[in-house]
Amino acid sequence: MTNCRLIYRSTCTDKLMPNEDLRRLIEQSAESNRQHGITGMLVLSGDQFLQALEGPSEAVNALYARLIRDERHHDLRLISYEPIQESYFEDWGMSLVDLYDLPKPVRSILARKYPSKDGAVRIPERLHELYAFLLDAKFICLGRPWDK
Ligand SMILES: Cc1cc2nc3c(=O)[nH]c(=O)nc-3n(C[C@H](O)[C@H](O)[C@H](O)COP(=O)(O)O)c2cc1C
Repeated sequence: MTNCRLIYRSTCTDKLMPNEDLRRLIEQSAESNRQHGITGMLVLSGDQFLQALEGPSEAVNALYARLIRDERHHDLRLISYEPIQESYFEDWGMSLVDLYDLPKPVRSILARKYPSKDGAVRIPERLHELYAFLLDAKFICLGRPWDK
């Protein structure tokens, strides 16, 4: 079976309220993704989502079809879709990094590295920056020294 990585971005609608709804969405997604062998990462920057999904192509395609119909976000833009040998987010059903909710030192490092406005980190447009950005998000999740 072929594994793939799909990356897209989208804009949050006001149907998705912050915090509680988002937390529930992540919990449900993590559980469902685990059942389907999908791993991934969701980044939120203001009202912008960036999501990477990895796993068996059929499962990832079926999820993307559901995502397109989901009214909690809109303007989905497919950024990349490729076969993969190795996963970036192995062992992760789904994790969320909210860029507006990071400790200041972490935010300011990201703001220097990636496009930003008034200190707020924005999701990069260029593909090579996007990959670096997703991997930084992964290491932020792995570290999270402020949660310990
Ligand atoms: C930004 C965003 C990311 C999502 N990520 C996932 C995900 O990784 N896995 C998942 O199963 N559902 C995810 N969902 C929810 C799906 O769109 C969908 O509601 C869910 O798969 C259940 O589909 P169903 O109601 O057709 O069964 C996400 C929704 C949004 C708005």
